[in-house]
Formats: sequence, C-alpha cells, structure tokens
Amino acid sequence: MATKSKTPTSQFVCSICGYAAAKWLGKCPDCGNFNTMQEELVREAEASPLRKGVSTMKTRALPLKQIGYEKFDRMKSGIAEFDTVLGGGIVRGSLVLLGGDPGIGKSTLLTQVAAHLGQTKKVLYVSAEESCSQVKMRCDRLGVDSENLYLLNETCIEDVEASLGDSEVVIIDSIQAVYTETLSSAAGSVGQVRECAAKLMRIAKSNNVTFFIIGHVTKEGALAGPKVLEHIMDTVLYFEGQSEDHYRILRAVKNRFGSAQEVGVFEMTDSGIRSVSDYGELFLSETRGIAAGSAVTPSIGGNRCMNVEIQTLISRTAYGMPRRMSLGVDYNKLVVLIAVLEKRCGIPFFSSDVYVNAMGGIRLNEPSVDLAICSALASAATDTPIDKYTAVFGEVGLTGEVRSVAFTEKRVLECVKAGFKRLILPAKSLKACEKYKDKIELVPVQYVSQMMKALQFKPNA
Ligand SMILES: Nc1ncnc2c1ncn2[C@@H]1O[C@H](COP(=O)(O)OP(=O)(O)OP(=O)(O)O)[C@@H](O)[C@H]1O
Ligand SMILES: [Mg+2]
Repeated sequence: MATKSKTPTSQFVCSICGYAAAKWLGKCPDCGNFNTMQEELVREAEASPLRKGVSTMKTRALPLKQIGYEKFDRMKSGIAEFDTVLGGGIVRGSLVLLGGDPGIGKSTLLTQVAAHLGQTKKVLYVSAEESCSQVKMRCDRLGVDSENLYLLNETCIEDVEASLGDSEVVIIDSIQAVYTETLSSAAGSVGQVRECAAKLMRIAKSNNVTFFIIGHVTKEGALAGPKVLEHIMDTVLYFEGQSEDHYRILRAVKNRFGSAQEVGVFEMTDSGIRSVSDYGELFLSETRGIAAGSAVTPSIGGNRCMNVEIQTLISRTAYGMPRRMSLGVDYNKLVVLIAVLEKRCGIPFFSSDVYVNAMGGIRLNEPSVDLAICSALASAATDTPIDKYTAVFGEVGLTGEVRSVAFTEKRVLECVKAGFKRLILPAKSLKACEKYKDKIELVPVQYVSQMMKALQFKPNA
C-alpha cells in the first residue's frame, strides 16, 4: 500500500515577490532576483469552517466608551537612563529588542538589568553565545549577585520555552544564536531569526512574560539582524558608540509605550555600565572657538536637549570627484546643504573634499541642525572660527531661507543654562523666546546669507 507523502514543514519564499518553492534556489524564477529565497515555516491549515464560507467570528466590535484598559505596569531596571529610554520603566509583557555592534556592551547592560530585576522577580538569562561560567564571571566583575537570577546555556528555542517555568523576565542573548527545530536553515538566517522572534512574541503575549532580545547589527546593513524583527517588537533600542570611546548612547527607534526620540547616555567602566546624567560637555570639544569648522547646536532627543558640536573639514580634492563624508549626519542632507551654500552664499565646494562629524558618536536626524552644519562648513571654508559661546539652530530650505523648528524655547533655555552668550536662530522663532533676551543675545536670521554676516564670514576671503 502506498504511504501518503509527508507534507513539507518549510518552504522557500522570495523576499521580494513572494514566489514559493519547495527547494532553495539561487535565482527567483519569478522576479529574477538573486539570493532572495528565504526559508519559512509552512503552517498546516486545519479544516476550518471558513473554508466552507461559514464565519466562526468570536469577536465583535465595541463602542469606544465600553473599552477599558489597565495602566501599564512598569518595573524599574536599576539604571536610570535605561528606564528613561524605555519611556519610564520596563512594561510587563513587552518585547524589547536591543541591537548594537559586536562588543559594544549589550550583554553587560542586560546582565546588570537582569541582576537588578532578579532581586524581586524570577529572571532567566538565556546565554546562547557564552557559557554559564562566562556569564557568572561577568556578574562577578560587575559586582552583581541575585537570588532569583537563573542562567541557561541553550540554543534551541523549543528547549528554552520548556525551561521558562514561572520566569517573569527572560533575556535572550542573542537572537542570532538561537534556532528552531522546525526550520532546517542555519541559526542566524533570516527565516530562523524571524521564526524564533515570532515564537517569543507568542509566549510574551500569552504568558505576560517580558522579553529582552539581543540582536547584532552587521556591517552589511543588518541582513539577518534586528532590522527584520523591528515590526514585531514593542520597543527597539540601539546601543551605539565607538568601542574605543567609553561613552555609549542608547536610542529608541520604536516604542509602543513611550517616545521613540528618547536618548540615554552611558559610560562603560571596568565595573559595568553607568548612567551619565551630566552630559553638558560630552558632545563638545576643547578646541571649540579656536579651530575653524566647528559649530554648536542645541539638539532635542526625547524629553531632553543637548548641545552638540558639529565639526567639518574641507580639503582640496587631489584627483577625480570631490569626496563628501558624514558621520552622525545624513549624507544626503550634507550634499543638499553644500549646494545651498554654493548657490546662495557663493562658497565654492566643487574642488574640495568635505568631511562632517557630530561629536561624541551621536546621530543628529533633526532638521534643526541644518543651519549649524552650514555655519560649520562656512567657518571651515572661510577659515574663521565661530566664537566659543555662540550656538546655532534652524532648518535650511533649498532657496536659502532659514525656517523655524519645534521646541524653540527648550533649545534657548539649554543654551542659557550651558552659558552660551549668543544664539543664531530663525527669525520666525524669535517671538517664542523673547523673554530670554536679557540672558542671551538672540540673533534672528531669515536667510543663510544673514547667518554669514552675523558670524562675520567673508566668502571670498
Ligand atoms: N575584564 C574586563 N574589564 C573591563 N572591561 C571589560 C572586560 N571585559 C569586557 N569588557 C568591556 O565590555 C565590552 C564587551 O561587553 P559585552 O560582552 O557586554 O558586549 P556585547 O555587545 O555583548 O558583545 P558581543 O557582541 O560579543 O556579545 C568590551 O568592549 C569591553 O569594553
Ligand atoms: Mg554579548
């Protein structure tokens, strides 16, 4: 008697057009793209009445007034800046992804959090990358100890699920190192990472368990890393900084329970990670005001405002196309601002290489930094330093106009607090902060060319 063939448990689906095949293919036969076939799990469709066109609807629409909710139950992590970035603490039953470059300190941060939470709750630290003794060694180095902190060295997600018990908080270190037996692809592949994360999400939501998931960011644009998971997570945090430098920045890029603009500043020490609350001079250099090419701007990150220095360097292009390079600032923005300065202020950049860097490894995405980038570039081009106690902010349009930005008052207040004496700001923002004019000289500008005059830059010098 012929036996019934077994249904396949996985299939390969093109990540671009959705073409499905039973085996892996190098080139998608449908859309013709190479290396886009990813393994996915085939869920067996049960004999559902829906197939016969009969609805089994168990839910019904409710009027908004009748819908109630519980206030988020937030736990403190023991690290103030970490709580701030999460929006005021860890929400029970949430899924938090912590992404970052290898060696930046992800395991260190979550070990400290786990040890603190372990004082009152049962915490499980699943270490798929390091042995339990390595984690214990780190705990000893960090000087943390906890009654209810359990360590598990396991890579199979099904076994992790079986070992959860009554744990309230679970840390997975890292998602690239765990695998599910239902897929045959290697741990760390897109299919594995996505399937494991989906499994963790189901556990988190049904059992009210809080998950912290560590994910590595790869240099190639995070192919199998956190990027493919962001949509199923409640909160996505990125741990950044230069590993040679001991300061680290934690940024929320998505948060269902708080602002996604929040930034936390940490210091990496021998005894672990420490919150830095006094970051006044952190993003400023000592050569400010002496060397040409640097400008300071008050930048908003969530609920806080920080003064950040933008440094630029202009050098003659030796051969071929001039180079433009930006660190911490959007590359396209830099190219546009260079064009604006060329056209509206007559500063030639066509035969110069331009390099821009935001100090302290911070990333500036706000439009308010435009005018500061222009000031720094003009300062470098004219070899005229900007005074140490002058700050600049404002958005720059393609016609060279300076537009007002959000949180004007907050920015002015931060400059006053930091001891700045002069502030160049959009003319339209002046009204909102006139009450500070006794404390700081406010210089309104309507066009980029006025900023040039205010800072005494001479384009043809
Ligand atoms: N014995 C030590 N003394 C001082 N600092 C240490 C010591 N061991 C590690 N560190 C610091 O901890 C950092 C690594 O931290 P951690 O292992 O938490 O990073 P990670 O992001 O989890 O890395 P990985 O990608 O390997 O998992 C190192 O860059 C180093 O600065
Ligand atoms: Mg680690």
